[in-house]
Amino acid sequence: MNKSPENPHIRSFVRRDGRFTDAQRHALESLWADYGVEPSEEPLDFTSLFGGRHAPQHLEIGIGMGDALVEMAQADPENNYLGIDVHRPGLGSVMQKAHARELKNLRVMSADAITVLQKNLPDASLDAVYLFFPDPWPKRRHHKRRIVNAAFAESIRRVLKPGGHFHMATD
Ligand SMILES: C[S@@+](CC[C@H](N)C(=O)[O-])C[C@H]1O[C@@H](n2cnc3c(N)ncnc32)[C@H](O)[C@@H]1O
Repeated sequence: MNKSPENPHIRSFVRRDGRFTDAQRHALESLWADYGVEPSEEPLDFTSLFGGRHAPQHLEIGIGMGDALVEMAQADPENNYLGIDVHRPGLGSVMQKAHARELKNLRVMSADAITVLQKNLPDASLDAVYLFFPDPWPKRRHHKRRIVNAAFAESIRRVLKPGGHFHMATD
């Protein structure tokens, strides 16, 4: 099992960055200052993360290459969008796309979303949470790795504002 004393939950991912394209690596290096959110022990202060912009706060967990996040951020500029993933080439891609579209309402975090939910997201702090096609774990022996379980559902309930939305798509 992929556990450690600091992070005792079973992880829903295998940390494998794989290959970066030159553009993804360049984006990670050159655009992180604009779009990246550093891990912290403190609750996230969204207004300051988004350059003083106080707005409805949306979170996508497991953004992959970031296409959904970028589309949502462009379609709804009145909201702030934070995307979390552990796969750094994908984070490079989403920053490239956000930069090309000059999005000001998008940030990304390179982190285990379960840890962020536990450590950094206060009660009733989010207007919406998105989770799209999260669990590539069809085998029974891997079911324990699925991010969606009762504890996850309870975390989402806790961080959503009353009336907030959780939008999930899965196959
Ligand atoms: C099957 S992919 C789906 C990506 C994207 N949502 C889509 O629909 O194309 C699952 C993604 O979730 C990420 N992921 C899985 N567990 C995670 C976790 N605990 N924290 C952050 N990202 C996670 C993986 O790195 C991967 O990018």
